[in-house]
Amino acid sequence: MNHAVPWPYPRLLAHRGGGTLAPENTVAAIGVGREHGYRGIEFDAMLAADDVPVLIHDDTLERTTSGHGDVATLTSTELGRLDAGSWHSAAFSGEPVPMFEAAVRYCRAHDIWINIEIKPAPGAAARTGDAVARATARLYADLVRPGADAAVNIEPRVPLFSSFEREALAAARQAAPDIPRGYLLDRVPPDWQAQLLELGCVALHTNHRHLTRAVAQQIKGAGYWLFCYTVNEPARAAELFAWGVDAMCTDRIDLIAPERAT
Ligand code: G3P
Ligand code: MG
Repeated sequence: MNHAVPWPYPRLLAHRGGGTLAPENTVAAIGVGREHGYRGIEFDAMLAADDVPVLIHDDTLERTTSGHGDVATLTSTELGRLDAGSWHSAAFSGEPVPMFEAAVRYCRAHDIWINIEIKPAPGAAARTGDAVARATARLYADLVRPGADAAVNIEPRVPLFSSFEREALAAARQAAPDIPRGYLLDRVPPDWQAQLLELGCVALHTNHRHLTRAVAQQIKGAGYWLFCYTVNEPARAAELFAWGVDAMCTDRIDLIAPERAT
């Protein structure tokens, strides 16, 4: 890691597109985030049965769609016909499960930066990392810089991958080595730096609830970027920024103004 390189992306991200104000991981949610001034979002990408990436968080359909069963058993066409909005509110009724490509194209068209969380269904980590990375590389082919697998050479419009799954990150690295990666960890383990080195990650993403000032300072002192999820109280966001946290995502885009970080 290069100690001199500041986080080049937006510092406040709308979690799952639009936080609690819209149905998660939909294009409508990204639009709501945008209406609230958010220029950066986090979303979750998973594979359909035909290996096409779509936006969805759970590996089952019941909570956020009109479908039933496992996401991985339906093709992208079938998933695209489901209603992913009604569970949230009638205003979003009929909002579809978006194809990853369509969501990324929407973001690019509106200058929205993305933290792409690679969210594999059980047993599909490597396949998901590979497919999402290939699709991203294709969609940003004009911007990806060869040799950008280091903070010093990062193009700030290109997404940052993150994942809890090591295999997914390794596959993404293999498929698109020039797109940077962050390792997602609920709690920061003592050997975090060795793990980041092994995965070639430039950032550590972690649950803010378990983060301490001392650990934040260690990570920043070692020259890594530090990202927190999911911060929903303005006072906590301010505290984390004061500790040196680079960026965070929030569900409360109505409470935390994106310009706080600038
Ligand atoms: O990427 C940060 C955060 O989204 C991780 O947790 O479960 O909301 O995807 P989850
Ligand atoms: Mg996520």
